[in-house]
Amino acid sequence: MKHFIDINHYDRSTLSSLFTLTDTLRDMKPKKRMKQLRHKTIMQLFFENSTRTRVSFELAARRLGAHLVNIDIARSSTQKGESLRDTLETLAAMGCDAFVIRHANNGTAELARKWLGNKVSIINAGDGNHQHPTQALLDLYTIHLHKGGWKNLKIGIFGDIKHSRVAASLIDGLRIMGCHDINLYGPRHLMPESTPALMVNSFANAARDADVLVMLRIQKERMADTEIPNPEQYLEYYGLTPERLKLAKPDAIVMHPGPINREVEIASEVADGPQSVILEQVTNGVLTRQAILHHLLA
Ligand code: NCD
Repeated sequence: MKHFIDINHYDRSTLSSLFTLTDTLRDMKPKKRMKQLRHKTIMQLFFENSTRTRVSFELAARRLGAHLVNIDIARSSTQKGESLRDTLETLAAMGCDAFVIRHANNGTAELARKWLGNKVSIINAGDGNHQHPTQALLDLYTIHLHKGGWKNLKIGIFGDIKHSRVAASLIDGLRIMGCHDINLYGPRHLMPESTPALMVNSFANAARDADVLVMLRIQKERMADTEIPNPEQYLEYYGLTPERLKLAKPDAIVMHPGPINREVEIASEVADGPQSVILEQVTNGVLTRQAILHHLLA
């Protein structure tokens, strides 16, 4: 039984083979592709809001011919006081091959794996500010398509890094691929306590000659009111404007996991500009999730 819980459980060659599998499934004739996960059942449990990740998994599962069930958490028995463990055990008893789980608490996907033993494959769709490994895979795949190699890349990651599971798993994933020039910049109080990446003291230091710029949303849902930056001033000090983009290499790509807050962490002109790959990330999300589901269940 395989799981996809933490990007750190994967090595470089396995991640590379997932890129190849992504390409293979993308190019497969629909008739053949639709047979890949026939008779497999995947259940999605999202205890936090999601558009991209949930729909992306749904499309990936359906495009491989799997059955997909979205559990409506707001109307489920967890609202009647049932524990998460009992909910999962109950759903597993109905016959299910994989759970896709998003939860506000760090470590929930790993807990589910421990509870269910090896009955069901667990896929982590985001746990607190800890990991979002499928986002890391789609981000890595997008960088791989645009940049080819990893060794001499300079990456800048900007904004609310402290609360971002996207940043945490991407930093780990980049290091696994052999990319170590990772520079972080954002409001001081939104920087992590510890990180294997480099925390720099100006936007310019992280952006100058960068190959990839990753912008992040201010994750208010994980902050006390006093921690929330003023959105009007944010763009001026920490956001990606057309002028700041000029610091990066001319062929630099601009990434964002979404949802974006226009004119806060990113100017619309940049988000919609020629260097932005934000919507490509969304497309690649469906493709890489097909590869993950295939890798775990086929
Ligand atoms: C991210 C998440 O949920 O961690 N979104 C996503 O999955 N694309 C980032 C965010 O919510 O800001």
